[in-house]
Amino acid sequence: MTASKKKSPESSRVKLHQLMLPEHGNALGNVHGGLIMKMVDEAGAIAAMRHAQRPCVTIAIDSMTFRQPVHLGELLVCDARVTYVGRTSIEVSVQVHAENPITGDVTHTNSAHLVYVALGPDGRPSAVPALELETDEDRRAHADGELRQHERLLRKQRESRLPPSTPPSA
Ligand SMILES: CC(C)(COP(=O)(O)OP(=O)(O)OC[C@H]1O[C@@H](n2cnc3c(N)ncnc32)[C@H](O)[C@@H]1OP(=O)(O)O)[C@@H](O)C(=O)NCCC(=O)NCCS
Repeated sequence: MTASKKKSPESSRVKLHQLMLPEHGNALGNVHGGLIMKMVDEAGAIAAMRHAQRPCVTIAIDSMTFRQPVHLGELLVCDARVTYVGRTSIEVSVQVHAENPITGDVTHTNSAHLVYVALGPDGRPSAVPALELETDEDRRAHADGELRQHERLLRKQRESRLPPSTPPSA
């Protein structure tokens, strides 16, 4: 596989479905947020690896807001799509929905943007294929992703200038 061959967001898109069972619940009887975050990261990683055709690791996860609870008995659906790629990094947008499998009602519960880095055989960042932008929606998502990535790198730069934190005294 050559890193120069462009690939569309649709070609790596992933939809993960999992039925939420009692073992996935929190003390309130809804689905545990940590489980949702794990599924979001898994869906994002699969889309990134499909795009890169290489192992990928998570380097950044943007803030995640839980807009609605997911209930036990519902189907958790994570829809992951590559939005932006740099040289070795891949941004994936994951939309999370809760579906009632009986009524078919669907609720959008949260969304997240995650960044992965493709690794070569030496374990170092490795070039990924460029993104083939096929639709207006692809182009919009790509422009937004580029802005977000720029912000992340500025934030990283700012944080690297902060003095190291002192551990709390015992
Ligand atoms: C991923 C890793 C190998 C990258 O190493 P590195 O020396 O930081 O690599 P680079 O500085 O060359 O950055 C690689 C890419 O990540 C991007 N990147 C770096 N820091 C970033 C951040 N905070 N947010 C978003 N992207 C970032 C860079 O812009 C670069 O992208 P580009 O090639 O498209 O321009 C290293 O950071 C690592 O091992 N992190 C731990 C990963 C991990 O364990 N994840 C959890 C389990 S999967």
